[in-house]
Amino acid sequence: MSDTASILEVQGLQSGYGRSQVLFGIDLACPATGAVAILGRNGAGKTTLLKTLIGEIVSMSGVINFAGIEAQREDTEKRVRRGMGYVPQEQAVFTTLSVRENLTLGAISQKDKSGIEMVLDFFPKLAERLEQQAGTLSGGERKMLAIGRALLGSPKLLLLDEPTEGVWVGVIEEIAERLELLSKEISMIIVEQHVALALRVADYAYVMDRGKIALEGPSDNVGNDPLLMRYLAP
Ligand SMILES: Nc1ncnc2c1ncn2[C@@H]1O[C@H](COP(=O)(O)OP(=O)(O)OP(=O)(O)O)[C@@H](O)[C@H]1O
Ligand SMILES: [Mg+2]
Repeated sequence: MSDTASILEVQGLQSGYGRSQVLFGIDLACPATGAVAILGRNGAGKTTLLKTLIGEIVSMSGVINFAGIEAQREDTEKRVRRGMGYVPQEQAVFTTLSVRENLTLGAISQKDKSGIEMVLDFFPKLAERLEQQAGTLSGGERKMLAIGRALLGSPKLLLLDEPTEGVWVGVIEEIAERLELLSKEISMIIVEQHVALALRVADYAYVMDRGKIALEGPSDNVGNDPLLMRYLAP
């Protein structure tokens, strides 16, 4: 999947921690709008991939072309200013601050503060809990707050690491619907353990196995591929 309308094109990306290499040559692309899913069992390297894309980890080699410019040597701040957003798997909100304070901090670099109102319209549950300490929110509310904070940066590409992890099943659908709506406006990479949900929200899917892309294709094809379960089995 590589065309001129891609907002992200990754080629031969290698990355890891110190001398321990985790990613062994990742190629992937994201269109300007729509969601791409990243699947794979625990330890496959999904989080490492997102951390490398946002610049939390410096890549060992390969190209990250974001919005037409090579980003692999840019720091995280530059990538965020150019339109990348990131919702990490863990510690995505300031737990001792209120919902309102978390959103205010998220909007700090924005001239237009109306973004916060937009987030509260988008996730009405947050509007009911503005003064509540973020650490006391439910798993689902906390994920909504983390996504809302990231949206305040007006990302062109949003990297979501397990947006439904630790979320009660009744709220997962609510988050999935919001992500489907968002994918009509911006580009997203969604790392997910809920395979059916990820394949529904995303148009295209990559399956990682031990730091490589083992399988990729339009979501329907990947969902029906007999190899999928092999790559997801523990
Ligand atoms: N800070 C670190 N230092 C060294 N190795 C790490 C570090 N973080 C992760 N790893 C290793 O990198 C590999 C990939 O981990 P990663 O977190 O990217 O996997 P993942 O696919 O996101 O897994 P999960 O589904 O459990 O979130 C694992 O073997 C892990 O132990
Ligand atoms: Mg992970």
